[in-house]
Amino acid sequence: MTTTAPAFDRARLRAFLGHFTTGVTVVTYRRGELVRGATVNAFTSVSLDPPLVLVSLDRRSRSVGHLGDGPFVVNILAEDQRDVALHFAGKPMEDDAVPWADLDSPVPRLAGTVGHVECTPWRAYDGGDHVLHVGEVTGLDLAGGRPLLFFGGEFPRLAEEPEAPHWSWSLDDPIAPQPFAAPHRWEAGK
Ligand SMILES: Cc1cc2nc3c(=O)[nH]c(=O)nc-3n(C[C@H](O)[C@H](O)[C@H](O)COP(=O)(O)O)c2cc1C
Repeated sequence: MTTTAPAFDRARLRAFLGHFTTGVTVVTYRRGELVRGATVNAFTSVSLDPPLVLVSLDRRSRSVGHLGDGPFVVNILAEDQRDVALHFAGKPMEDDAVPWADLDSPVPRLAGTVGHVECTPWRAYDGGDHVLHVGEVTGLDLAGGRPLLFFGGEFPRLAEEPEAPHWSWSLDDPIAPQPFAAPHRWEAGK
C-alpha cells in the first residue's frame, strides 16, 4: 500500500484544531480504591436516543484503559476552574484544594462545575493514537453558569452573556422540547 505524504505537518494540524474553540471537561471515575480524573476538551454529544456522548482519550493517558471498565462522569468546568483543568492535566494543585463533591461515591464528581453527566460505557472505537469512548448517559445535573473555554492553548473568557439562540429552528436547538416539531424548520429550497 502506498501512502501519500499529507500536505501539512503535525504542527499545522494542531494549530488548525486549536482554532476549534471548546469547553473543558474533566472525566472522573472510581475503579476500586483508585479515584481519578483527566482533563478532556475532545468531548462531544453523539445521540439523544439513546443518550450518548463521546470523549476521545490519548492512548498514552492512564485513563484510556479504565473508561471502558465501569461508570464515569463528564464534568463541564466553570470559568473559574482553570486550576482544576490544569490539575487533571498533570499540573497538580494541593490535594485538599481539589473540589471533589463526593470522593466516596461509586461515581465521584466535581463540585462547582457547570454540570455533569454520569455515563456507563457503551462502545469504544479505534481513533488512531486516541480511543473514542462513547458513554450512555444515565444521569445528569445542570447547575448552569459560565463555562471555562479553550482556544489556541489558552483559556479565554466568554466576552458576553450568551444571548437567546438565533437558531431555534435548528434540529440541534438544546432547549426545544420537540426539535422535529419546531415551527420554523429550514427546508431545502424554501
Ligand atoms: C485544556 C486541556 C484539554 C485536554 N484535552 C484532552 C483530550 O481531549 N484528550 C486527551 O487524551 N487528553 C487531553 N488533555 C491532556 C490530558 O488532560 C493529560 O494527558 C492528562 O494527564 C491525562 O490524565 P491521565 O493520564 O490520568 O488519564 C487535555 C489537557 C488540557 C489542559
